[in-house]
Amino acid sequence: MLMDEVVAVCKRRGIIQPSLDIYGGSAGFFDYGPLGARMRNNIISMMRGHFIDDEDCYEVNTPVVFPKKIWEASGHIESFTDPLVHCKKCGTQFRADHLIEDKLKKSAESMEIKEMNKHISKIDCLKCKGKLTDVRVFQLMFKTSIGSIQDEKSEAYLRPENAQGVFLMFKSVQKAMRVKLPFGIAQIGKCFRNEISPRNFVFRVREFTLMDLEFFVHPKRKDDVPAARWNKIKNTKATFLTIGEQKKKNPKTHTMTFDSASKRKIFNSKWHAYWLAKIWQFLEMTGADPKRLRLRQQMPDERSHYSADTWDCEAEYSFGWKEVIGCADRGNYDLSRHMKYSKQDLTYFDEETRERVLPHVIEPSPGIDRILYLSLEHGYIKEKERELFRLPAKIAPFVTGVFPLVNKQGMPKLAKKVYNDLKKLGFRAFYDESGSIGKRYRRMDEIGTPFCVTIDGKTLKDNTITLRHRDSMKQQRVKIEELGELLHKKIY
Ligand code: GLY
Repeated sequence: MLMDEVVAVCKRRGIIQPSLDIYGGSAGFFDYGPLGARMRNNIISMMRGHFIDDEDCYEVNTPVVFPKKIWEASGHIESFTDPLVHCKKCGTQFRADHLIEDKLKKSAESMEIKEMNKHISKIDCLKCKGKLTDVRVFQLMFKTSIGSIQDEKSEAYLRPENAQGVFLMFKSVQKAMRVKLPFGIAQIGKCFRNEISPRNFVFRVREFTLMDLEFFVHPKRKDDVPAARWNKIKNTKATFLTIGEQKKKNPKTHTMTFDSASKRKIFNSKWHAYWLAKIWQFLEMTGADPKRLRLRQQMPDERSHYSADTWDCEAEYSFGWKEVIGCADRGNYDLSRHMKYSKQDLTYFDEETRERVLPHVIEPSPGIDRILYLSLEHGYIKEKERELFRLPAKIAPFVTGVFPLVNKQGMPKLAKKVYNDLKKLGFRAFYDESGSIGKRYRRMDEIGTPFCVTIDGKTLKDNTITLRHRDSMKQQRVKIEELGELLHKKIY
């Protein structure tokens, strides 16, 4: 399976590997090695550019742990749960809804516990055929406590999303930055979910990195996307799967521009369409194959407790079509709940309409780990003599390898100079002088390095190097003094 091949390269090259390896591992936790850490950082910088800087949004940084009260306000204590059963004989645990769906082919997404119990009584343990317990509700947030006295008041939870810190800062950011609606506040950071069955490598994990961007809009102006902004996305073509289609016997996807999709009124608001387009554009930038992407509108019973409408940008991974990036219309759910629980006024005074309003929120939330893994899967190619990742240069851990052809005639010295000069110009370069030149090229292909620069006998005579291209394996001669400009052009 493709995933096994990608995972094997990831482990071999220290890109990503299961955590606590020497202690036997810990399901749902992963270590990013030197190359994986670089890729993550690269994706995060692209994300900052595309979603935050290009859109004049703001970024904040808030705690990972919040007291229980915040999670009561956000609705997570009540709703961020999974139904769980275990085998009375062997103790194996299962997600009750998944069992019902897999074994009885019934949708259990919005099923009451009482009804789930009725169905579960007809299912035996998949492992030992033993009887299963009744369903119990399992809280997905990791529980901890704040301070030395452990009582009801000190109860706290690790954040399962970054959004709540943003909602708590909405008023202070709006005032400090003197900003008018609509505007966005983002937070990028670690989130934690005690998943019952982590699976598919870094796809479903217990600790992951997420950007939540909360875009606050006037509740009556959710269609007022300024022309200058709409023009940036209107011709972007995407593939859509609406609720209406999913209700049909043979649901069909439709590929069209965002302008056409918006004219067909498939979105609840134009701002929601705008952020979906930004998501689509971003995934294309990260090397995802657009033919294996689609925007699927969640069915009402799939939505999170805070959502009025959610679209997922799904990708075809080797393990099926799965959500890469979600984008919810959270309405004013969160601000109104925090107003109620904190007893503070979180409304906004709109000077144009002279109204006090509680803004609505559109929330694109890209998960870095899922995006990174998608770039690897969609970029992976196995050829007769090599394995490679066709990663965009902006994501690849290194933009270029730099090699002396042989370790003599002053080639290493000159190669090191080229290497240091490229680094001074800001290129992520990697110096390698060990093994045959063919092996060095293969090692760079395997980690997605788009270019290699080789210093050879001709370089010593005419100051030109060989620039070798990863995908075509073609080589060209380039003057050393023109290398920086050429690489810059090719990357950007
Ligand atoms: N804030 C997005 C999510 O919880 O999935």
